[in-house]
Amino acid sequence: MRSSGLDARLHGLFGAAVLLATLLCSGRSRGHGFEHSAALDAGGRYVVKWRFDETSITFEIEAETRGYIGFGLSPNGAMASADLVIGGVANGIPYLHDYFADSSRVVHKDPVQSYKLLYGKENYTHTVLAFSRDLQTCDPKDRAITSGTMRVIWALHNEDVGPSGPAYHGINRGRKSLRFLNPGTSRKVSPETATFDLLNVNVPVPDKDTTYWCQMFKMPEVQKKHHIIRIEPLIQKGHENLVHHILLYQCDSSLNESELDMGHECFHPNMPDSFTTCETVIFAWAIGGEGFTYPIHVGMSIGTDVDPVYVLMEVHYDNPALQTGTALLVDSSGLRLYYTPRLRTYDAGVIETGVWVSLYHMLPPGMQDYITEGHCTQECLQESLDSEMPSGVWVFAVLLHAHLAGRAIRTRHFREQVELPPLASDDQFDFNFQEFQPLSPEQLILPGDSLITECMYNTKDRQNMTWGGLSTRDEMCLSYLLYYPRVNLARCESLPEITGQLKFIGVKQIQSPLTTWPFVIKSPKRYSNLSFTEAMDKFRWTKKRAKAFNEVVLNLPMNVRCSKIGLDEWSVSRRAGQVGPCIWFTSCLIRY
Ligand SMILES: *[C@@H]1O[C@H](CO)[C@@H](O)[C@H](O)[C@H]1NC(C)=O
Ligand SMILES: *[C@@H]1O[C@H](CO)[C@@H](O)[C@H](O)[C@H]1NC(C)=O
Ligand SMILES: *[C@@H]1O[C@H](CO)[C@@H](O)[C@H](O)[C@H]1NC(C)=O
Ligand SMILES: *[C@@H]1O[C@H](CO)[C@@H](O)[C@H](O)[C@H]1NC(C)=O
Repeated sequence: MRSSGLDARLHGLFGAAVLLATLLCSGRSRGHGFEHSAALDAGGRYVVKWRFDETSITFEIEAETRGYIGFGLSPNGAMASADLVIGGVANGIPYLHDYFADSSRVVHKDPVQSYKLLYGKENYTHTVLAFSRDLQTCDPKDRAITSGTMRVIWALHNEDVGPSGPAYHGINRGRKSLRFLNPGTSRKVSPETATFDLLNVNVPVPDKDTTYWCQMFKMPEVQKKHHIIRIEPLIQKGHENLVHHILLYQCDSSLNESELDMGHECFHPNMPDSFTTCETVIFAWAIGGEGFTYPIHVGMSIGTDVDPVYVLMEVHYDNPALQTGTALLVDSSGLRLYYTPRLRTYDAGVIETGVWVSLYHMLPPGMQDYITEGHCTQECLQESLDSEMPSGVWVFAVLLHAHLAGRAIRTRHFREQVELPPLASDDQFDFNFQEFQPLSPEQLILPGDSLITECMYNTKDRQNMTWGGLSTRDEMCLSYLLYYPRVNLARCESLPEITGQLKFIGVKQIQSPLTTWPFVIKSPKRYSNLSFTEAMDKFRWTKKRAKAFNEVVLNLPMNVRCSKIGLDEWSVSRRAGQVGPCIWFTSCLIRY
């Protein structure tokens, strides 16, 4: 029975799309204008615009070619098994066909033509094509368009599709992660709204793939309460492809201001200690994203005692082409905050839920699918909401957050013993494309509800254990809930007990008292004097053992961290022996 639990989870994480597909398989829309757009290439030669309704989506692609335009949805950004649509304008007549690529990347015409051509035109330089399709097409060769991340691929050719099919596109192609079904958060804020910029100043971007640059800022100093109502990226001209994503964290308010002006490579051993007090994500933008506008009844409060004073901006630079050339690349990108004294009805809050960031959150190497769970328990939400907001809080956006090994994440929602629809899910998680997903409609969380953040990881290309931690090679399994009205609850997380994890690899005794971190093992001899992390690495992991370990961990008792803003934590650390209610054990929860 136990192993079927894990299989059920795997299935559950991927089964959601299938379930949705049965809901509606028809319907078509014709609206006006396109609310969303994104350039898929660096130079803006290929721009896709779109709009959608409950059942269908309409695209308009404008590309710099007089030949064909290719557009596809892929499982992972590669050509294999992608859903493709290719069209153009030949001799003044627009054409469009539905194709698919098989697992060997051979392109076939799809027997079921799900994409419908609306119009097409071309001039001496450009082609414009508009077409629509159902979100769920009922054709297994098409990929469902869901609210999660979609891996979009594109191609251009200077010739139209000939009788023998589309010619190979060569290097005129690319990929990008996008979310098509974000409800249109209007970009507009009234023009007199004050702005405040958090900008890096001439950051030297090294010629390496990945640089994370951290800089601390003080929020705008205002004499009375204001609301931040929109945050958007400010990317230096020409650096659209260099600045990959930006996260904004709220820091501890008791900071030494002398550290304010220091920018530093993040997670570097010399990084100032104060940077590590900035843990809660309050904004996230990623390449392809559009910025975030709060719903009209909500704003992020600044200027009162309980509001964030300091924030840390983490900018991820991606310089794979190593554009150094002659001069060192320097960047001054950042974020723009819009804030207003015209207060909205509610203050927004952020709750961090998921797996408590710790070395006790560990992933064995070589796994295609490894699952971890972080619980925001019934007791925690009960205790916090009962006293402050017995009528519950409304979640209006969710950021799902993991690092490089993350493949899929969802935030499950339970009321009593009943599972409600997930608050958010993404079964094609892409580390480089993280943003808050607005929820439509907003979701109510009541005292006594509980949440499980479930993450699936791929550690196939790793030789050693992966540890919970802040750096991108370490892992996280978090979902940040943006909600209102604000209550004093910062974190609602859990962590599996370490004892059971150590027992799995045969640890008998640890050295006590604990004087080092990570602590050291005493027996058996093969691990003696090794830290527990070294011992875990020394264990000979196989796929079978790692799978068994996954089962064990999912059924271990957990420690729960239910904490207020600032440092005072409450109801932390429940040990197995003290655990009363069944809810502390994952094995007691409803499984599918
Ligand atoms: C050709 O079409 C593109 C896309 O609609 C447009 O941007 C461009 O200005 C047009 N060129 C001319 C010469 O009209
Ligand atoms: C802040 O940091 C500076 C430099 O590290 C130090 O000289 C100063 O005493 C600190 N101030 C406080 C209030 O801790
Ligand atoms: C472990 O360390 C202790 C103290 O440093 C030492 O006495 C002991 O021999 C070591 N054991 C092994 C197996 O290396
Ligand atoms: C794996 O971990 C061990 C012990 O922590 C370390 O000595 C070794 O260098 C690591 N190997 C890799 C490939 O990181």
